[in-house]
Amino acid sequence: MADHASIEVDLSSTVAPATEHWKQMDQLREAHRFFWNTKGGYWVLTRYEDIREAFNKPELFSNRSIVATDPNPAYRFLPSFSEPPQHMKYRHLMNGWFAPASIKRHAARIAELARETVSPLVSQGHADFITAFGDGFPVKVFLLVMGLPLDDAGFFVSAVQRMSGDTPGHPSDMTAWDDIHNYWAQMLASRRTSPCDPHVDFVTHLSLCELDGEPLPDVDILDILVTLTLGSLDTIKNQLGWCFYHLATHPDDRRRVAAMPELIPSAVEEFLRAYPIVGMARKLNEDTDFHGCPMKKDDMVLLSIPAATRDPRQFADADRVLIDRSPNRHIAFGASEHRCLGSHLARCELQSAIREWHSLIPDYRLDTDDQLLAHGGLISLRSLPLAWAP
Ligand code: HEM
Repeated sequence: MADHASIEVDLSSTVAPATEHWKQMDQLREAHRFFWNTKGGYWVLTRYEDIREAFNKPELFSNRSIVATDPNPAYRFLPSFSEPPQHMKYRHLMNGWFAPASIKRHAARIAELARETVSPLVSQGHADFITAFGDGFPVKVFLLVMGLPLDDAGFFVSAVQRMSGDTPGHPSDMTAWDDIHNYWAQMLASRRTSPCDPHVDFVTHLSLCELDGEPLPDVDILDILVTLTLGSLDTIKNQLGWCFYHLATHPDDRRRVAAMPELIPSAVEEFLRAYPIVGMARKLNEDTDFHGCPMKKDDMVLLSIPAATRDPRQFADADRVLIDRSPNRHIAFGASEHRCLGSHLARCELQSAIREWHSLIPDYRLDTDDQLLAHGGLISLRSLPLAWAP
């Protein structure tokens, strides 16, 4: 019989002991294939196959909004909020910049940036990984890939901290969003008067792009740049936090990764699967009966990637972290046409960070007896105190 329970569950703003958010999603998935969340008013899909199916039906599960609690957003993420055929046109303007071959050209410098970020920590003997590494490294890589000097790293670190509300004692500060928008507006104006090399500088590249035979409008360029900023910095920082949380709390895996760096790519895939940080929503284009679940036009539907990638129907020993798991068809980067534009960059960053850190600090442990806490929404650790022999 179809199960369409109504449940009240806070999936966005809770603070809970580390890894509790995933245990909660595991329990919800095993109790309900789908349910209506009365907190926020949206459907939740919990199983891998159903979520893949929804990702693959963009004509029904639309990208008019991708935030479950915000069906009518006043902002526009691009290319995220665009639909066929416009979506593919936007992706064509950007795909090459983030394709495997382009990222490969940056790989050596990305490794250097990781090493430069770890090196000063070696003699310290302890650090909060999130602020000492997670804040700075993704920002430097982002600036590198965008073709910008690293001088502006401080601005982005502080803007992202303000937006995600992780400065101790401060909730999310949405004026940071305006600051990021203004930063890019000024940059675009300056590139219009003095263009840089369009093969190196992404803003100049976009300023020369055309869409449907017309220059790409400034409003589109700015929405793309803001989306890239929001989509690429907090995600890497938080995913890195979970990689190092796992390695700090599982000494056998840590020793294997340090001794056999060739394991790092599969370990990263497994961390993405077992510690997935982000869920995506869709807005229904019409009434539908989804495997017995009665959904209405304009309902929001959360495709819970954190439930999907840990679904035992898809993954053997789903609740175990196996750093050499193969195959590993996780969907931590989504699926189908809106699949993460930055997945190759993300993989390169995560792998470089783990490789360079362990070449300098192979042995470390959690430096606290307190319970570590994690935010819901974008599942993230507030801090990760680590200690090692200096
Ligand atoms: C661990 C890091 C990351 C994770 C887990 C992640 C996750 C995701 C997911 C699940 C989606 C699918 C959205 C949907 O279906 O609506 C997505 C889309 C996207 N991501 Fe990432 N992401 C990461 C890093 C990055 C980076 C580094 C960039 C920078 C280039 C980036 C840029 C984007 C963009 C622009 C989209 C929208 C794509 C589209 O709608 O066509 N992401 N990401």
